[in-house]
Amino acid sequence: MKKFLNLGLQPLANSYIKKKNLKNKEKKFKLEVGFNNKNYLVSIANIIPKEKMFNNEYPYKSSESKTMNKSFKDLTKKIKKKYKPKFVIEIGSNDGVFLKNFKKNSIVGVEPCENLAKITRKKKYKTFSEYWNLKLAKKITSVKKANLIYSANTLSHIKNLDEIFKAINYAMSKNGVLILEDPSLLECIKNVAYDQFYCEHIYVFSTIALKEVLKKFDLQIFDIENIKTHGGSNRYYIKKKINNIYKIKNNVKKEIQKELKFGLHKFSTYKKFESKVKKSKKKLLNTFLKLKNKEIKIIGYGATAKSCTVLNYCKIGTNFIDYFYDTTSYKIGRYLPGSKILIKKYKKLSKKNVDVAFLGAWNFKKEIFNKEKNFIKEGGKFITHVPVPKII
Ligand code: TYD
Repeated sequence: MKKFLNLGLQPLANSYIKKKNLKNKEKKFKLEVGFNNKNYLVSIANIIPKEKMFNNEYPYKSSESKTMNKSFKDLTKKIKKKYKPKFVIEIGSNDGVFLKNFKKNSIVGVEPCENLAKITRKKKYKTFSEYWNLKLAKKITSVKKANLIYSANTLSHIKNLDEIFKAINYAMSKNGVLILEDPSLLECIKNVAYDQFYCEHIYVFSTIALKEVLKKFDLQIFDIENIKTHGGSNRYYIKKKINNIYKIKNNVKKEIQKELKFGLHKFSTYKKFESKVKKSKKKLLNTFLKLKNKEIKIIGYGATAKSCTVLNYCKIGTNFIDYFYDTTSYKIGRYLPGSKILIKKYKKLSKKNVDVAFLGAWNFKKEIFNKEKNFIKEGGKFITHVPVPKII
């Protein structure tokens, strides 16, 4: 792997700090990103043991977002009609945002974070709070194999992809379909969304890289959808090579051509990205400085893991942002890692107490702008850093 980007010393992105621990020294690690020119994988260099990140304290709940709820609901409708799956496995079932669209006896969830697995188990969905691997695949599919395996925003968090796909290959029936969904590297690079890189996002996948990884396991991408979630993601439909039911669609070739045209197979593309990231940092800091000089009150909106990368890389803290608003109960009253900005319970924005809000959850811009229509009408503004830092 050849490194191309250094995002400095970073704390664990999802370890929100309790007030009583504010004075404790935080563990930090070097966040560097590299490119493997053999299989085109882009990944972070310094990988944190999974148990430190995905445990009983995992704060992220997918079902708290309208956008994600709708995205998963629409997808399930489509795949039920298209594939009529009898037995489904979801890898990374979180709090059941996808699971809940299926009958209880037709789906099994895999979710190593016990606090989340508990939620779906309570709703009578069979959920294994274990990491996905061959041993677990054998346990789950000892009687019948799965004809659909689904995993969204999960595989990019797992280091050993070979183990993952070995287990998927074992668990999936001959004519089964695997659907993967993760942020798209092309969108990330195009949008200078360097905050897609944080401790949990070990990989940001491109189609060309995924194709290389799948090759070893005789798995093939036969269909692709570009979707809007998480700042631009790809949904890959994958089959076994021996499965002749599904023809490889033209859009797979097109997506690959698009990525090659952009240069995702070349190291020089990533060096260009690095220089854009540096410029983005300067511009974002200037934007904050200008507003602060005018004594304008700035808060943060959406205390995302992504904003942890931005705030710590750009050294933005309480010097610029008074506090963050977030809807996640777990985060409220805690402080963002590194920057130590307080997270408050979300209240509708009003010009009476806020002038400008930094969009930590820029990937939900549409949902947020819709919610804050009045604030925008009153002349309230947002700062975003994607694709270029600006006030909108
Ligand atoms: P997410 O997009 O999953 O980002 P990451 O994976 O980088 O953590 O997190 C979205 C966060 O934004 C989550 O903490 C909830 C918050 N949020 C709000 O506070 N209000 C909103 O209207 C939306 C859409 C999200």
